[in-house]
Amino acid sequence: MRVLVAGDRGYIGAVLVPMLIGAGHDVVGLDAGWYDGCDFGPQPAGYQSRTGDIRDQRPEDLDGFEAVVNLAAISNDPVGHLNPKATYSVNAHGAAHLAQVAREAGVARYVFSSSCSLYGAAGDAAVTEQSEFNPVTPYGESKVMAEQLIGKFADDSFSPTYLRNATAYGSSPRLRADIVVNNLTGAALTRGEVRLESDGSPWRPLVHAEDISRAFLAVLAADREVVHNEAFNVGRDEDVVQIRTIATAVAERTGAPVTFAEGASADKRDYRVDFSKISERLPDFRPLWTVAAGIDELAADMNRHGLTTAQFEHTFVRLARINRLKGEGLLDEQLRRTQDEAGLRGPAGADRGSQ
Ligand SMILES: NC(=O)c1ccc[n+]([C@@H]2O[C@H](COP(=O)([O-])OP(=O)(O)OC[C@H]3O[C@@H](n4cnc5c(N)ncnc54)[C@H](O)[C@@H]3O)[C@@H](O)[C@H]2O)c1
Repeated sequence: MRVLVAGDRGYIGAVLVPMLIGAGHDVVGLDAGWYDGCDFGPQPAGYQSRTGDIRDQRPEDLDGFEAVVNLAAISNDPVGHLNPKATYSVNAHGAAHLAQVAREAGVARYVFSSSCSLYGAAGDAAVTEQSEFNPVTPYGESKVMAEQLIGKFADDSFSPTYLRNATAYGSSPRLRADIVVNNLTGAALTRGEVRLESDGSPWRPLVHAEDISRAFLAVLAADREVVHNEAFNVGRDEDVVQIRTIATAVAERTGAPVTFAEGASADKRDYRVDFSKISERLPDFRPLWTVAAGIDELAADMNRHGLTTAQFEHTFVRLARINRLKGEGLLDEQLRRTQDEAGLRGPAGADRGSQ
């Protein structure tokens, strides 16, 4: 398929694109370039990536594509809190706008990167795709809004699908240090301790970035009826774990001790997800990673690339990077670029991890 991948230059995109190309798809990227220069090893090559904002796409920009994969977003709670309006503008209205212009251009498939965080405060039972939405942050709300807005465009010739991903982990050429497994592993290597901010009791559903990518591939390969306007939780039952279990695994595998931040307290939230639908309906989706293997992969890559404290605390932290681009005047309040491509990549915008 000829596939437009929006958000191709982010954490998951940099893992997904080579897998799509490897599966024989013809890929074009579209990205605002917020993390250009925040590299963790060589970047994916051999495909074209356009620089632009999903909010500005026109139908003619989507001509000739058979599918759109939309990863472009303000991708976590801290950045979402920074500016809820911008979060709704990109994650919900921007995602819906991209669906609308794709449909107008005759694109048949639209695979949206949603999140388990739209279930929010879910109580003790494992949430299924039928469970109530109860988002507790602007980021979670934006994913609910996006699914609802995009769903309005579903018809005989346009099939959106919503992949509600668990929290990702694992190495990527556009590493993120602000997601739990990556964060604890990076802390072990740069600070020599696995530092917990709570007592580690909360449960988290986890999934490797490559396994998320496998879900996108499985949706593109599936018959239309199977995925038409359907949501799938993406993860594995075995990888719904408590934070302290992750911390212990990181400690065992890196030799760094687990420590607790001052005032670390119990957090009784249980957040469990049922992943049976995706394995039943999309048998091609077979997640391969375990959290333990992901920690080993991360630790090996962090050692190989010489992860610095500055990179761990700034370059690879989405909130720090966005604040820096805003502070330098390269992004405005709505997180729109104020300059051309060279602006984010050039000397002023390049993130050399020097903070
Ligand atoms: N990483 C996770 O744990 C996780 C879990 C569940 C869902 N998701 C979702 O998956 C998607 C990808 O996540 P990620 O971790 O790769 O995020 P990321 O922040 O690393 O990448 C997002 C990419 O989108 C681009 N982008 C942002 N706004 C844009 C816009 N308006 N126009 C064009 N490009 C824009 C950014 O420049 C960046 O390259 C997001 O939608 C996120 O909400 C991620």
